[in-house]
Amino acid sequence: MEKKFGQPKKINRLTIHNLLKKAFKHHWHPCSSAKTLEETPPVCVKRALGSYIEDMEGHLVIDGISSWWCKSLGHNHPRLKEALLQQANKFEHVIGTSTTHEAIIELSELLVTLNPGMGKVFYAGDGSSAVEIALKMSLYSRFNQGNTKKKGFLSLVNGYHGETCGALSVTQIDTFKRGYASLLFNGLPIENIPYVNTPQDPLWQDCQEHWDTIQDFLEKHHHKITALILEPIVQGAGNMRIYSQDFLRRLRIWTKEQDIHLIADEIMTGIGRTGKMFACEYAGITPDFMCLSKGLTSGWIPFSAVLTTNEIYNCISNKIGEDKVFCHSHTYSGNPLGAALALETLKIMKDDFAWDDFKEKTAYLLKSLQEVADETKTLSNVRGIGMIAAADIRLNLFSSDKMKSMIRLAYQNGALLRPLGKTLYWLPPLNIEKHTIEELKEITKRALLYAFK
Ligand SMILES: Cc1ncc(COP(=O)(O)O)c(C=O)c1O
Repeated sequence: MEKKFGQPKKINRLTIHNLLKKAFKHHWHPCSSAKTLEETPPVCVKRALGSYIEDMEGHLVIDGISSWWCKSLGHNHPRLKEALLQQANKFEHVIGTSTTHEAIIELSELLVTLNPGMGKVFYAGDGSSAVEIALKMSLYSRFNQGNTKKKGFLSLVNGYHGETCGALSVTQIDTFKRGYASLLFNGLPIENIPYVNTPQDPLWQDCQEHWDTIQDFLEKHHHKITALILEPIVQGAGNMRIYSQDFLRRLRIWTKEQDIHLIADEIMTGIGRTGKMFACEYAGITPDFMCLSKGLTSGWIPFSAVLTTNEIYNCISNKIGEDKVFCHSHTYSGNPLGAALALETLKIMKDDFAWDDFKEKTAYLLKSLQEVADETKTLSNVRGIGMIAAADIRLNLFSSDKMKSMIRLAYQNGALLRPLGKTLYWLPPLNIEKHTIEELKEITKRALLYAFK
């Protein structure tokens, strides 16, 4: 179903020039400097299908990063479009409290079924809000228990959890936090993480050598900690770093022993991205909270979910003899359009997704990036898991100007890429076709060779 657009109409260059001029006038693009936007103007999108985006001139580009990691089933998936239309024909939104509806009932049941050990699902609109909710729920459960000591949060160095104040406080990447110190609390960072390039690394199975020092650090702080938040297995914005499943497993055991909640931020890793439905499955663990968004609706609509256990729910909201409320009144909580899309996405992933074929394609993705590294000699530290492959530009070659020119060249040749600092990565839709990966490889290779040689 890839690349089946009709004949593009020729668009006058002047039309695009005028559109871009207008775009710069009032639209403030996220995470882009004015200089970068001027040097590499945004793609003027006409339509999108499967793994491809078509610009106003009829030029097709591969969405190499799934539009910020959310278009897991590609653009314009026919079953998702149908689910959206069917729900829109019934009703598009009703208040999330005082009402309920079929889509949210079925979705909540399916999410809990897919995550044995979980009992309740709370909904919000985006990933950062889901993280805020999980942090607040953890804290509020302590408050309800009269525990005034457990107030702090642990997170992993290089971890990213969003841009709102709580989420940013537990994010451990300085670039995002600069300038906001007075708004943030201090999330404590865990260092010395056992990173691996692939699950074949021995550290993946056994990280004892790192654990000893980490445990010393943890033991110093455990009494004041309410929760540890982490991205299980892959740290996305932290340069696509992959870490040992044994580390995740040990953290779960340790947090349980210390009565510390584990918040699994599966906003990027969840719903198949790493090769499992949820990345926590690699370590065989159940967290106390799981945050989902992005791939949950396959990027159709802002929609997020926080799963938690009945035990925590009872502690916050159902204390016997008391009328306790979790006061987080999100207007769009449980939005029916998002719920219908999430339900259909999960049904596709659970019942109709070609997992064997996917496994083969993920191996092909990583092999392709390794080939790019071998042939261009511009990349080091090639790594990957599931439908994620990443590598770093060799330090002696890197400059941000060269990287910008690489991005421009890739776009001109048909791929939309957005490296993280010196890290180049591919994170395409899960159902990308093999020939499109091949195309992505050739385009990336050419762009690297021109920009860095
Ligand atoms: C792991 C993780 N958590 C949270 C977020 C924040 O999600 P949103 O951008 O929808 O607020 C992101 C976004 O990239 C993410 O990757």
